[in-house]
Amino acid sequence: MQTHQYDVVIVGAGGAGMRAALESSKRTRTAVISKLYPTRSHTGAAQGGMCAALANVEEDNWEWHTFDTVKGGDYLVDQDAAEVMAKEAIDAVLDLEKMGLPFNRTPEGKIDQRRFGGHTRNHGEAAVRRSCYAADRTGHMILQTLYQQCVKNDVQFFNEFYVLDVLLSHDLTSGTVPDGQEVAVSGVVAYELATGEIHLFRAKSVVFATGGAGKIYKTTSNAQTLTGDGMALAFRRGIPLEDMEFFQFHPTGLAGLGILLSEAARGEGGILRNSDGERFMERYAPTIKDLAPRDIVARSMANEVREGRGAGPNKDYVLLDLTHLEPAHIDAKLPDITEFARTYLGIEPYTEPVPVYPTAHYAMGGIPTNILGEVLRNNTDTVRGLYAAGEVACVSVHGSNRLGTNSLLDINVFGKRSGIAAAEYALGADWVEMPEEPEVGVVAELERMRTLPSGERLAHVRQDLQNTMDANAQVFRTEESLRQALADIRALQERYRHVSVQDKGKVYNLDLLEALELGFLLDISEVVVVGALNRQESRGGHFREDFPKRDDANYMQHTMAYRRPSAATAAAGQSPSGPGTSAPGAFDVVLGYKPVVMTRYEPMERKY
Ligand code: FUM
Repeated sequence: MQTHQYDVVIVGAGGAGMRAALESSKRTRTAVISKLYPTRSHTGAAQGGMCAALANVEEDNWEWHTFDTVKGGDYLVDQDAAEVMAKEAIDAVLDLEKMGLPFNRTPEGKIDQRRFGGHTRNHGEAAVRRSCYAADRTGHMILQTLYQQCVKNDVQFFNEFYVLDVLLSHDLTSGTVPDGQEVAVSGVVAYELATGEIHLFRAKSVVFATGGAGKIYKTTSNAQTLTGDGMALAFRRGIPLEDMEFFQFHPTGLAGLGILLSEAARGEGGILRNSDGERFMERYAPTIKDLAPRDIVARSMANEVREGRGAGPNKDYVLLDLTHLEPAHIDAKLPDITEFARTYLGIEPYTEPVPVYPTAHYAMGGIPTNILGEVLRNNTDTVRGLYAAGEVACVSVHGSNRLGTNSLLDINVFGKRSGIAAAEYALGADWVEMPEEPEVGVVAELERMRTLPSGERLAHVRQDLQNTMDANAQVFRTEESLRQALADIRALQERYRHVSVQDKGKVYNLDLLEALELGFLLDISEVVVVGALNRQESRGGHFREDFPKRDDANYMQHTMAYRRPSAATAAAGQSPSGPGTSAPGAFDVVLGYKPVVMTRYEPMERKY
């Protein structure tokens, strides 16, 4: 085992991780650990833009942006955090511009801006041009730009290293650590993919920036790597997960495939039509129509299909119509996504409408943090030295439904904030003692998986998980469908204990990696479904057909899900905290609530 020591260790090399690393490396010794080569991170798949009220092409201001974010999130947004994000958005874009990001420009040479769902002028009057973009490759450009800056600043990258445990001073899963007790992080344990070797990273600060968990669903815009690793690692160590029942379905995935077709297509004038050719969003959101927030558009599309107005031989998708746009405009603004339509569906978007259907896209919930990126272990106490930013975190600027382009913004604003906070904390903090033999749990779990005799195939378990999540915890949910999902997940957890990897070797053992990822997916799915069952209302991305109204009296609060020993485990006096998977029934998902921070916006009915 090799041991490393850095003041700040950042886990994840997407936009949030690298933005954090850039700030931290200006202040102190910083390492980034990533399971991928950094420029392959999923930020690269974000297409349409990053919003900021620059007012380059139309009147705009950050207060309108704050309001849109709060309303878009169906009032579950922490308003202090949304205010910070909208205010700091302007500098966040300008920072990237100074680093060399090739934004599209107006004829006068300013950063150009386009429309995106839910972003409006003067509290909902009309759609506003707020998204700064680089064609439909904005995330890709951010990733390249930040990586160059990190290399320039001597950030140490450990690529293709997989973090498998986070080391804390106390066992939080026991549920017995009193409120107010100081709890601190001391490092992480990682597995090197190229060699199978274990590495121990000692750190004063650790920043989690590992992204989302879209692979809990079958139809998703997310890359193969989005398996909820950081969320699950924190959860297994007793840190709560916030608002996990809210999962965003992006309206325009390529039908049957889920590949993202940017909302920028509608921002540039694209129109959604049903099988009758009707622009159906006029009925659901008469003011901003196709540019309503994603939860509303996705539900409207699913509803058109349910009511028999879907297109295609099976009437199971709707159509994204770009045929009225000039081909030159399409080529300049939407080159990648139109190529996806040609490549994967054989459709020519100049002349034919593109089949689309909602695709699982983004986790609004995650590891709870405050506006500095400090991780919360309950409603008020932070874990000293532990930070999270980006999709893995819940700060909560997205509430129950994120607006498009607020995620590239989130990673820049809160990536930067957590990088600064982590470095400043590390500069003044003492080293925290590590637990004895910190790697044993990880080694035991890897050994268990490698040596299991042939049993369940991991691909089958993953497929069954994704199928039940698609069928039962999708855009529309009911008590019955969610109970079915939970029963399926529990049965799959049992099967997972018998998953054996075929590759018994140590070098680039991707089979083993996928088996570990599957364990994370199962944990996260359980939390999503338990939270969704408990929330007997409809809000943002969580729509319960059996409770179709928002219920502020009972549910205007964040869900906090904790992993706690079940009664049987507690009675047996076991202390099962650790990085590995556990027998089904060893733990319960226990829910609590956290108040929503309100500053200036009173909840109202959401109309567009
Ligand atoms: O539609 C898109 O370009 C996606 C953007 C986002 O999720 O923010």
